[in-house]
Amino acid sequence: MRRDFMDFYSKNTLAMEHSFIREILKVTKGVKGVISFAGGLPNPDTFPREIISEIFNEVIINEGSDVLQYGASEGDRQLIKAIKTFESVENIGDDELIITNGSTNGIYNYTRSMIDQDDIIITEAPGFPGSIAAMEACGAKLSGIDMDELGMIPELLDKELNALLGKKKPVKFIYLIPEFQNPSGRTMSLQRRRDIIKIAKKYDIPILEDQPYRELRYSGERIITLWELARTEFNDPEIVTICKSFSKILGPGLRLGFSSGAPSIIGQMVKWSQKSIVSPDCVTQRVAAHFIDRGYMHEHINRIIELYRPKRDAMLDALEQYMPDGVKWTKPEGGMFIWLMFDKAVDTDVLFDKAIENKIAFIPGSKFYSANNKKRNEVRLNFSYPTIDEIKKGVEILASLI
Ligand SMILES: Cc1ncc(COP(=O)(O)O)c(C=O)c1O
Repeated sequence: MRRDFMDFYSKNTLAMEHSFIREILKVTKGVKGVISFAGGLPNPDTFPREIISEIFNEVIINEGSDVLQYGASEGDRQLIKAIKTFESVENIGDDELIITNGSTNGIYNYTRSMIDQDDIIITEAPGFPGSIAAMEACGAKLSGIDMDELGMIPELLDKELNALLGKKKPVKFIYLIPEFQNPSGRTMSLQRRRDIIKIAKKYDIPILEDQPYRELRYSGERIITLWELARTEFNDPEIVTICKSFSKILGPGLRLGFSSGAPSIIGQMVKWSQKSIVSPDCVTQRVAAHFIDRGYMHEHINRIIELYRPKRDAMLDALEQYMPDGVKWTKPEGGMFIWLMFDKAVDTDVLFDKAIENKIAFIPGSKFYSANNKKRNEVRLNFSYPTIDEIKKGVEILASLI
């Protein structure tokens, strides 16, 4: 007899669905003949295989008795030191940083630390489904705030916080992806960052800043993070917690990221980390520390930028060339995604089925909204994974299906 154990699973587990994006990935990644704009996958050509394999070998031989042992839940001291140097943000205390198992683990532990059933998180709409799913799995209710080209719209945020807090609703934090946002590719302007921090301070609601793409800028000026802005201009090192990731730089398979914020919040996250992963992977952490300490990082990031910039440009050119009148799209200065906005009559869930029949994959916009607030006339396209030829051909086919 095969049991299904349905009576045993928790309500939260049963309420969770499998991730659409991960399911799509299974049927499109590396499948012959399919042009995939669906995943958020870094291009494997960016993985620094040789250097990393040498450092792995060396670390295990020379430092194995240390790194093959259990490690601290906060993370490897050497990596924490290397990150502080790399980030060059002044005065980050040792109790203000935790290494995480990819940034997802940081976002999850932050959410776990804050959320009781039905507490509210403010997110961008559209937002990143990985985080939305993790937050909903923790019991949170999400309130999505519309964006314009410069990021979350401050007036709408102010209005929503005022309304929710006026009704004594438990709003726990504001979740933002200010740079090359997933899915829209938009970047929040400096003024917007200031405006959002001011609103957060006005209502005393903390911000979780998710920054996995920050290093991948192909044009325009680098903008200070909300995390650093709060520390420097607002003299408030507590209001913003940042999550960063090595996934889009060294490779997502390494599962390495970090979070930095108020000692009290980091302390709570350490407690969750102790319960779930004990410590991040000690070997990988030490390898990343050496990679940074030996000065490989900047050059490596520049190589990735040189690989991705022409892909972004090729996709923007192809959209210009092939898309019918009336279709709009974002022009990201970095990251991995372009966001297409169609006339309201176009249902991109339907377009998706048509595209799959024609061996083109993308993610329909509806997947980036929480359950109660879906728009269905948008599309996310990834440009980091396909080749330039695939980008041109894929956009041409996609345009012909609209
Ligand atoms: C906005 C955003 N946050 C977090 C993550 C998760 O990254 P990680 O691999 O570090 O868990 C991703 C990955 O695609 C992302 O796009």
